[in-house]
Amino acid sequence: MARVAYVNGRFVPHARAVIHIEDRGYQLADGVYEVWSVFDGRLADAAGHFRRLARSLGELRIAAPMSDRALKILLAEVVRRNRVTDGLVYLQVTRGVASRDHAFPDPPVAPGIVISAKNVDHAAAQARAAKGVAVVTQPETRWARCDIKTVALLPNVLAKQAAREAGAAEAWFVDDLGLITEGASSNAWIVDRDGALRTRDIQANILRGVTRHALFSIAAANGLTLEERPFTVEEAKSAREAFITGAGTLVMPVVRVDGQALGDGSPGPVAKRLRELYIEAARRPDAPES
Ligand code: PDD
Repeated sequence: MARVAYVNGRFVPHARAVIHIEDRGYQLADGVYEVWSVFDGRLADAAGHFRRLARSLGELRIAAPMSDRALKILLAEVVRRNRVTDGLVYLQVTRGVASRDHAFPDPPVAPGIVISAKNVDHAAAQARAAKGVAVVTQPETRWARCDIKTVALLPNVLAKQAAREAGAAEAWFVDDLGLITEGASSNAWIVDRDGALRTRDIQANILRGVTRHALFSIAAANGLTLEERPFTVEEAKSAREAFITGAGTLVMPVVRVDGQALGDGSPGPVAKRLRELYIEAARRPDAPES
């Protein structure tokens, strides 16, 4: 089936979905994005992603391309036209097309908008989760505003590639204090030696992950202790368990950090259970979409 994308007001065949060479997202990485996971054709944690989108746009003073209501309809339409049942939806909003100049165009131009969607092989992802993945640490080289979900992802790209070349699925950034911030495209977690879930606090320079936040209520409902508190690389290596969260990976057990196996080198019970609970909640027919 031919894929379809939404580009600046039109549905177009994916293979012919193009933007102007002077789109500021292309030339200057002057844009933001969001990724929703899709379960049974519905967006997971929709409201959290809309809130973060509004915040990212606001921080960069890019105009919202349309109301959330209209955007929701469009996202659903892209999901429908691509027959996505379990997959991902990608939205990108840029400051628009203007003659190249670093400062904002004056007068402002209409923001650029792109939406695409694809199915993911849920069975393959489940098989990956059953084995767990490896992570490698990388120096934190990003800018100071990682709370904004911008398309300026070059440090993340390089870190992810380094991970790939080391046979790992994800890179964990380590700051000047030796503390893990987050992954190249996910948030980082451990289950520490006291059995507490630990993930970096949002005062740190990290993305406020929507999946991360969704786990807070799941953890509380299941009697797990959760601390927004940094951990070192050594603490990660000696943790009972580790995992990553994100719209792309959901909850993915981590079984190796810098080549060192955690525990017996297989996914831990907490990470496995949290993955099940997260997916169950997302699939529930009455799961709030907004
Ligand atoms: N990445 N941290 C970073 C740097 C990320 O890029 C992401 C998501 C997350 C997790 O956020 P959330 O739970 O809201 O998806 C944390 C998306 C999936 C991506 O870039 O494809």
